[in-house]
Amino acid sequence: MDAGHFPLEPTADGSHTFYSAAFGEWFHSREGAYDEARRTYVQATKLVERAQRQPSLVILDVCYGLGYNTAAALEAIWAVQPDYPIRAVGLELDATVPQAAIAQGLLTGRPIPVHAALTDLAKTGATPAPFHGTLLIGDARQQIQTLVASGFQADAIFLDPFSPPRCPQLWTVEFLTLVARCLKPDGYLATYSCAAAVRSTLQLAGLQLGATRAVGRRWPGTLASFTAPHLPPLSPQELEHLETRAAVPYRDPSLQDPAEAIQARRSQEQTTSPLKPTSAWRKRWLGRGTGATAMN
Ligand SMILES: C[S@@+](CC[C@H](N)C(=O)[O-])C[C@H]1O[C@@H](n2cnc3c(N)ncnc32)[C@H](O)[C@@H]1O
Repeated sequence: MDAGHFPLEPTADGSHTFYSAAFGEWFHSREGAYDEARRTYVQATKLVERAQRQPSLVILDVCYGLGYNTAAALEAIWAVQPDYPIRAVGLELDATVPQAAIAQGLLTGRPIPVHAALTDLAKTGATPAPFHGTLLIGDARQQIQTLVASGFQADAIFLDPFSPPRCPQLWTVEFLTLVARCLKPDGYLATYSCAAAVRSTLQLAGLQLGATRAVGRRWPGTLASFTAPHLPPLSPQELEHLETRAAVPYRDPSLQDPAEAIQARRSQEQTTSPLKPTSAWRKRWLGRGTGATAMN
């Protein structure tokens, strides 16, 4: 296994995260990397409850990274139902990230079957039942087209790219529409992002929106579904945000543009948008008129 080596940072719950020099961001909230995986992704998508109602589960882990979100799902489900069958597909640009997570010992604290499953997946890219895992290495914008063509349908989608300003290519209308096509009608898509552009894009893909409570980060995350009832409602502040130019989506018609071109296209669309300027919203809710926030 030819693992790279990434700078390590301990986070508040004792788990570690990596830093990406290429994207200029940490991979997780430093308030608790594994805790974020557990709460923002696994608890929000109600996988443990769902496993009690159906014979197997399917997960799509967009931006697999160190594998914490998949690991937290296996750990939570197998704690209640050992060996329960789980099919998971992970999309990841850089195979050395999951390999380095194993080589640097970041999953050694997890239960033995979870550690074994993720080690196998990082080493071989595919694992047999009860954890039928596949890692698709490459640009998720291309990999998702293959998944859609195969009719892949997930009970839960974990959407965990770097932030929209750093990695807009994985938050576009074109990409998220394809991601949404991989979600079962009553499945859940969860993400840490509460950016108005992300939420408006999920709506354009036909999903209904809910908010998940913040984990460490100051802002809530987003839970989305086509038909699942009882999504936690967005607050008046969050709803009003969707009426501002912050909600202008990112677009990438060819699913191949570099980040700068996608940013520039959105900035141009914002200048001519009929939506309200975001400054009034910021002043009303955040007490200041300018400056970027996690909600941008
Ligand atoms: C925020 S981290 C994900 C953290 C991960 N979910 C975890 O639990 O460790 C973002 C990940 O997206 C990957 N990535 C960046 N651009 C990508 C692309 N175009 N396609 C697929 N993966 C990409 C990075 O290599 C990185 O592993």
